[in-house]
Amino acid sequence: MGFRVRKLIEREIVVASHNEGKVREINELMAPYGYFVKSAAEHGLPEPVETGATFEENSAIKAVAAATATRLPALADDSGLCVDFLDGAPGVYTADWAEKPDGSGRDFGMAMERVVNALSDKGAVNANDRRAKFISVLCLAWPDGHKEFFRGEVEGDIVWPPRGDNGFGYDPIFMPDDHTRTFGEMNSNEKHHFNPSQPEQALSHRARAFVLFAGNCLIAADD
Ligand code: IMP
Repeated sequence: MGFRVRKLIEREIVVASHNEGKVREINELMAPYGYFVKSAAEHGLPEPVETGATFEENSAIKAVAAATATRLPALADDSGLCVDFLDGAPGVYTADWAEKPDGSGRDFGMAMERVVNALSDKGAVNANDRRAKFISVLCLAWPDGHKEFFRGEVEGDIVWPPRGDNGFGYDPIFMPDDHTRTFGEMNSNEKHHFNPSQPEQALSHRARAFVLFAGNCLIAADD
């Protein structure tokens, strides 16, 4: 990465995700660049099974499946919450921790409670035991098999009880360092804090990965 990166000359891409929260955030981040963006769901693609053991493997599974099916460049995000005291769990299983026991879908209220229960079961007592990070790995795959990866991370603390109704997933229990509000209490502009002219100020894991993707692969609409 960082050299021989292929630019996205085609101005149409697929966002290889069926997660509405992620698709919305990637659309927001892509907006200043003037690309035509459609999600995998809008293309009628099935959701691939994520069999990888790493964020890189899972993002590649999703991006390659969408690029192969549509013959367009495809951008996938694989992301998750990694809690230090839980040895990085839930990690690549972050979405799975929200699966309801009766198989009827996902419940993120339950998933957030699972995280704090896992912390107390393991004997977490200090503020330091609540250190965590969100990780996002973006994979951009082309129909000819070429792939690029971009990783973003943001460190913070797990808070309880959950705070705020914005965002998605585990946002209400994650408070990024140097902030006094959780991602759930921020609007999406605050969560991304993404400005193409000041990319070093990006805040969320997804925005930080996007900065690398945009800097290497995107071409501004007026270039
Ligand atoms: P996957 O990448 O499809 O395996 O799912 C990642 C899971 O991590 C999502 O279902 C969310 O629950 C969680 N996640 C990833 N990014 C975020 C975020 O920005 N906010 C809150 N939860 C997130």
